[in-house]
Amino acid sequence: MDVISELGRLGLMPVVEIPDASLALPLGRALVDAGLLCAEITFRTTAAADAIRILRGGCPELLVGAGTVLDAEQVDAAIAAGAAFLVAPGFNPGVARHARVRGALFVPGICTPSEIEAARASGCHVLKFFPAEAAGGVAFLKAVSGPYRDMRFVPTGGISPANLANYLALPQVIACGGSWMVPKQLIAAGDFVTIGRLAAEAVALARAAR
Ligand code: 3PG
Repeated sequence: MDVISELGRLGLMPVVEIPDASLALPLGRALVDAGLLCAEITFRTTAAADAIRILRGGCPELLVGAGTVLDAEQVDAAIAAGAAFLVAPGFNPGVARHARVRGALFVPGICTPSEIEAARASGCHVLKFFPAEAAGGVAFLKAVSGPYRDMRFVPTGGISPANLANYLALPQVIACGGSWMVPKQLIAAGDFVTIGRLAAEAVALARAAR
């Protein structure tokens, strides 16, 4: 599977913070039922690797990646769990190198031109623009698309139904990341009905925007 094309087709990357791996399967099913066939499971909780493993086994329709991958150990743990891609909030050359050696698709975070160049030099061509709204939003992406024509972005941070379409309208945006359709409070409460509704709304907005 071409992960980048698949992400581009979906246009959305839900950023998931899961407190307990037992919540992974109902969450995955809610996303699949809503037509949101992707999830970035962040290593902000110790349940992340187990959750990725469970989703890979139990929700084969879902494109499952790892998020908040901050060091080489987490790269290895994410790959061992079956993550299809790895995301980080910033650009760490050591982590990028390790992910490349391991053959993983690594999407590091950037929010300045210098970081874009450092990531590009390390072989990364799809970058998480984080924190998107706080760091200049759509105007930043339009400005950097002049010099960095071979780079593609996954803006994340402060994206919501109100501004999603503005980002997805940009050709350099592959998909938008965000937690608005998978709020951690709803995951912890097991409210997968509301998550399914939010996810379905996001899918409809993304389709209309593309
Ligand atoms: C992330 O790390 O990607 C962010 O926490 C997601 O940002 P959001 O919560 O503003 O969507």
